[in-house]
Amino acid sequence: MSEQKLYILMLSVHGLVRGKEMELGRDADTGGQVTYVVELARALGRHPGVDRVELLTRLIEDPSVSDDYRVRKEPLGDNAQILRLPFGPKRYVRKELLWTHLDLLVDRSMVHLREQGRLPDLIHSHYADAGYVARQVSLMLGIPMVHTGHSLGRIKRQRLLDSGRKEQAIDRQFNFSQRIEAEEQTLAHAAFIVTSTHQEARDQYGLYESYDSKRAIVIPPGTDSTRFSPPEGRKPNGRIQEMVDRFLYEPHKPMILAICRPEERKNLKRLVAAYGESRELRYLANLVIFAGNRDDIRGTEDESQRKVLSDLLFDIDRYDLWGLVAIPKRHAAEDVPEAYRYAVQRNGVFVNPALTEPFGLTLLEAAASGLPVVATNDGGPQDIIANCSNGLLVDPLDCEAIASALKVALGDRTQWRRWSRNGTLGVKRHYTWDAHVGKYMKAVTRVLHRERKRRRRTMAHALREGQMPLPLVDNVLVSDIDNTLIGDPQGLIDLMHWLREHADVIAFAVATGRPLDTTVKVLREHEVLAPDVWITSVGSEINYGKDLSPDEGWANHIRHLWRRDDVVKAMTGLPGVRMQSRENQRMFKISYNVDPAKMPSLDEMRTRLRSKDLRARLIYSHGAYLDILPVRASKGQAIRYLAYKFGLSLKSFLVAGDSGNDAEMLIGDTLGVVVGNHSPELEFLKGREQVYFAQGPSARGILEGIKRYGFAQTGNPTGDRTP
Ligand code: GLC
Ligand code: MG
Repeated sequence: MSEQKLYILMLSVHGLVRGKEMELGRDADTGGQVTYVVELARALGRHPGVDRVELLTRLIEDPSVSDDYRVRKEPLGDNAQILRLPFGPKRYVRKELLWTHLDLLVDRSMVHLREQGRLPDLIHSHYADAGYVARQVSLMLGIPMVHTGHSLGRIKRQRLLDSGRKEQAIDRQFNFSQRIEAEEQTLAHAAFIVTSTHQEARDQYGLYESYDSKRAIVIPPGTDSTRFSPPEGRKPNGRIQEMVDRFLYEPHKPMILAICRPEERKNLKRLVAAYGESRELRYLANLVIFAGNRDDIRGTEDESQRKVLSDLLFDIDRYDLWGLVAIPKRHAAEDVPEAYRYAVQRNGVFVNPALTEPFGLTLLEAAASGLPVVATNDGGPQDIIANCSNGLLVDPLDCEAIASALKVALGDRTQWRRWSRNGTLGVKRHYTWDAHVGKYMKAVTRVLHRERKRRRRTMAHALREGQMPLPLVDNVLVSDIDNTLIGDPQGLIDLMHWLREHADVIAFAVATGRPLDTTVKVLREHEVLAPDVWITSVGSEINYGKDLSPDEGWANHIRHLWRRDDVVKAMTGLPGVRMQSRENQRMFKISYNVDPAKMPSLDEMRTRLRSKDLRARLIYSHGAYLDILPVRASKGQAIRYLAYKFGLSLKSFLVAGDSGNDAEMLIGDTLGVVVGNHSPELEFLKGREQVYFAQGPSARGILEGIKRYGFAQTGNPTGDRTP
């Protein structure tokens, strides 16, 4: 990767994303992920191997949120910026409602990339929705992608079920089936995934069929260590000292510090028991607990918080720890770094005895401040202590173990100094964004190196070299053949007439499930004009003009991950699934006649292929055919490839079809026309943006659509809603 600096395109589509005064916690979609992506973008921008980072998110025009989110570009430092593209509703909506609009974002991203005349070297998606979009862009352009899940559908669904929620209700609310399928596909396709802890990799990603631990790297997110630093000889902060000392007989003793929300999971109960039951520990140190802010505990709304807080006070009383335990009633955010420093000044130790701890941010804050730690033997803490060697892990259920670990941590001065120093260094080395990006870039370099040879042959490279001819026309009419172009003889005559009249401004393309030779035959029989572009075999082959010259770039592009023989083998013997005749079988298309009453569901067949590590696209149509193609191939993908290749926007394509294998090319920014005699499997497109359902059958329906959109007439087509 010595030759060129990288352009990285990041996608994080939901929530409110901006570079300053992030509205973290404003709603369920605007939280940790926003800080993560913004800080990562900034840090990548600072890396010497990167000269452009774009964080792509949704442009939102909604009076109920800040105007910042309707600004198209927002700089994030030197080489990084946020780019907002509109798609779907203008208003701010929760992430579960974005799914049906994501295809539009795929198209908008393509247009954007074309406009700026440079293709990214790497695409990095965050969360399932962005993964869905990124995967398509990645497949289309042959650019490798990496993915960070942030949170995963399978585990969330499981937790909700465990908590007693009804399966149907949660699936409706959270759209799990779509999310999980997108996650599977993303994991199958991504060059690698970035996870924050080993536990997350094992226990959460591990629930996915497509997860491959060899393609997972654990890189913890950076923490803001500028706020957290050792006291370095300074005197204790007066405010924090007063806050703590007023509880204590002997405030100069070492301090055991805990900072956490008053939650059951944080296990403060056992911490107090451990301390209360150990005479030696009580003699050695004071216990200082910052457990959120409280007013009148009896008035605390959250019932479980109320219980945790009152139990805490009861237990302090039970063990008679008055004068030994400090439990300040309130504190401000800026007191927190001072609290860690004060504990360092008191030669203390930080303790996090939580029952489970997926990440453990407070441990990093403590470490950055130079405070040794005792932490629960779980997820995040395991990684932190392995990386930093700054303390001990304990079984959070074992009070004696907690007490003795604390004694060890407080007991030996030399060891204390070593742990203190290890913590500050370890955080710098492993838990800053610059450290994160250092590891990230190593992994990326490996991937790009591996892909380099393959990429030579792909479209992305060809485009960079400027080999593609420019289009001479402004619009393309793309039609399926059986039951769309053909089926209504008078309509076809009229359509051919219209095409001849517009021959100077319009290119004509067919997109069919048929193989090339029978396509040629059937068009000749019906006296159809020779198409400029032939998309055949369900989009797996593209040819041009009268001499049918094949598009080699397309073949190279879709070859990716295609293991034809293995797919055939995996499908053999399934009930209700029979191979079609020889002439329908192509290099990139395997076709079956199917009996929907007997065959396994499409999902079952997908799972079957996936379990054998096979990547393929299943397309079902007419309630009778099943085509299996490489993941990168379909009629819709072929059209997007053409648009990109010839510098046309997708809105310049009017696309007509009647059945399932046409669905994908009808969705999105193209001007879709579904003819009157369509099969029921296209009903789901009703009400979609830019999908027109014609009354008339076949070619007559196409003409209706042409009129409806004002296609190829002067001025904008009616479907146009680009801002
Ligand atoms: C055409 C093809 C067939 C395919 C079907 C659906 O009929 O000949 O192989 O399965 O279209 O795409
Ligand atoms: Mg058809």
